[in-house]
Amino acid sequence: MPVSLLVASNDEHFREMVRENLLNVPNSRVIAEYPEVSSTLYIRVMQDLERHPEAALILDMSYDADAALESLRKVKQAVPELYCVASNFQADGDTVLGAVRAGASDFLTQPMKRLEFRDAMHRLEATPRKVTTTASRLGKIYTFIGAKGGAGTTTLAVNYASVLAQRKQQTVLLDFDWVANDVAMQLGAQPQYTLMEVGENVSRMDQALFEGFVTRDPLGFFLVGPPDSLEQRGYFTEPMFREFSTFLVEKYQSVVVDAGTNVNDDVVLAAMQASSSVFIVVTQDFPAIRNAQRYLAFLMRMGFTQDQLKIVINRYQKKHDSNLASLDQVKSTLNQEVFYGIPQSAAVANAINKARPFVQDRQAAGELDRLFRKFVDKATGVQREAEAKTA
Ligand SMILES: Nc1ncnc2c1ncn2[C@@H]1O[C@H](COP(=O)(O)OP(=O)(O)OP(=O)(O)O)[C@@H](O)[C@H]1O
Ligand SMILES: [Mg+2]
Repeated sequence: MPVSLLVASNDEHFREMVRENLLNVPNSRVIAEYPEVSSTLYIRVMQDLERHPEAALILDMSYDADAALESLRKVKQAVPELYCVASNFQADGDTVLGAVRAGASDFLTQPMKRLEFRDAMHRLEATPRKVTTTASRLGKIYTFIGAKGGAGTTTLAVNYASVLAQRKQQTVLLDFDWVANDVAMQLGAQPQYTLMEVGENVSRMDQALFEGFVTRDPLGFFLVGPPDSLEQRGYFTEPMFREFSTFLVEKYQSVVVDAGTNVNDDVVLAAMQASSSVFIVVTQDFPAIRNAQRYLAFLMRMGFTQDQLKIVINRYQKKHDSNLASLDQVKSTLNQEVFYGIPQSAAVANAINKARPFVQDRQAAGELDRLFRKFVDKATGVQREAEAKTA
């Protein structure tokens, strides 16, 4: 059986070592890398196993052994049949036993030796694996991040959540743009409670409590965002988000995040790490493209993979205009395919003025609505022929 690995480590060198060592193992490849061994690791692992049910996990415990054990326990709880190799510099009885008790099938001592690695891969190959075929029951997180302010990040996130809700998906929209707080504005909502209350109550969060205090949009999704006053940013922290997201993906089918432009914010990074797709929103002007290039480089260094990061051009114009980058220029500058282009349309501003998403009035939004729904189809991997017929 070919070897497919998911590699989780806070250490770039560890991930690199695995990749290098794997070159000596025929028929093997790395499917995904996770730059963080955290309590939300299982979310990404489950998503990737959907596409690669044969994969095994190698997990580096050396950064924070306790966090790694917790992470491993949660992964094994979610996917008991997953083959996991734990790895650490310490290989004393307690360390190895701890890993085995948390669910590791094998253990590799660091620094990694070529032969030991190969032997471990042979043991993995020789172990019959029960393939996990059932699609993950966990919800998916989609994060929209703007390569520049005003690119249309909020508009896309709001309408994306709206389409999912129109498709009867249980959806939550999170506004992590601590400065702008525009999601509520675009939806005409006046939330009474905010991420601050979510943070305060996160350890006892359940669906009744959550839905009792966050705002429900008339389209059916829930939304929660930052407090209006700017001083309170500090009260919603990354550990709070991790706990909150565990609750969200277990209870809702989709979570949509408006991340503003805050690419190096801890909470936004944690959200992106748990996301099945991160949409980097650009426009065709050079400052936006240049920033997208910086964002991509940063995120790749953080261990994000190219298929997780998706470039979306907003206000896309095909016509040649020397002030705008063409599709080919965007592709070649970013060295990445463009996932989708959303056209420029007056319907956007009209909808914002009415404080409702443009997808709510399909007739008024016309071509924009049609193309936006195709974007959602592509992003969720769902074909919606039935909807086209009923529209
Ligand atoms: N496809 C589009 N066609 C025409 N206008 C658009 C389009 N997308 C966004 N806009 C306009 O661009 C402006 C900014 O949109 P939006 O607030 O969604 O961007 P943003 O990236 O979230 O901005 P910010 O940096 O302030 O958070 C809005 O006034 C909106 O009307
Ligand atoms: Mg915005």
